[in-house]
Amino acid sequence: MAEEGLDGASHGDGDRGGPASNVDRPSEAGGPFTHHLFICCNRREPGHRRGCCNPDGSDALRNAFKAQLKQRGLNAQVRANYSGCLDQCEMGPTLVIYPQGIWYGRVTLADVPRIIEETVVNGRVIAELLIFPLPQSSAARGADSI
Ligand code: FES
Repeated sequence: MAEEGLDGASHGDGDRGGPASNVDRPSEAGGPFTHHLFICCNRREPGHRRGCCNPDGSDALRNAFKAQLKQRGLNAQVRANYSGCLDQCEMGPTLVIYPQGIWYGRVTLADVPRIIEETVVNGRVIAELLIFPLPQSSAARGADSI
């Protein structure tokens, strides 16, 4: 059975003659990318009252997204960018996906494959990682949560 995604289109049954996935369609924002992931790589000194998303300075989360997007052949349509502090430090590590406006927190390396598969490819929000309600524009288009 098809799933309805962030764009309101059906996904998953592959027999509707349209794009095979959420990354096969042009960006709703009109740019070259369907998704732009901004991954907080801010680093603060140990013991800082707000903590930080990149305590060892390795940029491991961003590097994992880049590597897996490339491995899956999605790197031309989806960007995984380094970001400074997104001001959600207590929820970190954090990232935001535009133009969909999806904010995820407490993201681990283990979450990277499912964020790519579920959110980027299939257009489904992972409810347990969400730190803000979806923008009205996404919710109105029938965003799915898993
Ligand atoms: S350090 Fe990542 S949101 Fe502030």
